[in-house]
Amino acid sequence: MTKIIYYKNKTKYLDLIKNNLLNNNLVIFPTETVYGIGANALSKEAVNKIFKAKGRQTDNPLIVHISNFDMLKNITTDINEIEQKLIDAFMPGPFTLILKKTNKIPTNVSANLDTVGIRFPDNEIARKIIEYTNIPIAAPSANISSKPSGTNIKDIKKEFKNKVNIIVDGGPSKIGIESTVVKVIDDIPTILRPGKITPEDIKEVIGIVKIDDNIYKKATGIVASPGMKYKHYAPDAKCILIYNEDNNKLIKLIDKHKNKKTIIIGCEENKKIFKNYLSYGNKNNLDKISHNIFHLLRKADKKNIDLIIIEGVKKEGLGIAIMNRLIRTCNYNYIEK
Ligand code: TXA
Ligand code: MG
Repeated sequence: MTKIIYYKNKTKYLDLIKNNLLNNNLVIFPTETVYGIGANALSKEAVNKIFKAKGRQTDNPLIVHISNFDMLKNITTDINEIEQKLIDAFMPGPFTLILKKTNKIPTNVSANLDTVGIRFPDNEIARKIIEYTNIPIAAPSANISSKPSGTNIKDIKKEFKNKVNIIVDGGPSKIGIESTVVKVIDDIPTILRPGKITPEDIKEVIGIVKIDDNIYKKATGIVASPGMKYKHYAPDAKCILIYNEDNNKLIKLIDKHKNKKTIIIGCEENKKIFKNYLSYGNKNNLDKISHNIFHLLRKADKKNIDLIIIEGVKKEGLGIAIMNRLIRTCNYNYIEK
């Protein structure tokens, strides 16, 4: 049985969550990016349960959540100057840094790599839970593998009821897409997965930034971030991503590809033009689009349709992260002309 907790800052709830985590049980909790499905990061047995509940490939490593910098000492080593600067600038926040791990981190967390992704969330509930439990928490996004990340409690309940011990309801996720994942490679901060912390943000702090070649394409073989190899963020229906900077051309392209059983997810500005249309917010409000997108994909998928057409956004700032997710949602089915 899964217990649903509408979180209040009460020791009663924190004790229950702590006891479950210390007993190697699974707890779904909110963060500012997306919900995480969490377990004791120091226990191989607990971490195995995450892989099982999600149906996740075992070569895809998990990130570990902390609530204070003291926790880093036990689980990471050899932090260099650039890494320290990134920590100081972006933690707590929607940011994950890949660091050299110690042997306190079980091999299944890191999928046998010698590194571990570290994230210090800025969500109050997440921080309280980790701080009170006083152990690092391994947590991937709360979704069945290959499905859109969980940002809404209803979607999460549907997928995980009776597969986890506790679901902590903290309302809809603020940001809505997962953290920026960065690894410092040859002294250059390299973005393995784009997110709310943009390349410009990192450049401002370090003076240099690189974006991994694979963010808009399908990665194969040995890649810096194993997650890039897999089908991801995908509804059951077929999806096409369409983008053109010229809105009239964009509308023509959508007209060309839609059929009678199509639903379109796009900007508020184009809502009046099409039938069966779900608006993700104004074209230029990337924060709102990122907040809405995963939930809308699930909503579209529930309708009786055979095609979802998604309007793309400009690949700039947070738009890089949105397009990185949507290109994968559409299984690289991306049209610009
Ligand atoms: O915002 C987030 O990051 C959310 C919340 C819950 O914190 N978590 C999340 O975890 O998105 P997950 O497992 O869905 O995505 C983690 C990504 C995967 O693509 C994984 O391959 C990559 O980070 N990753 C984890 N550890 C890594 C490592 N040691 N080296 C390279 N990539 C790693
Ligand atoms: Mg995920």
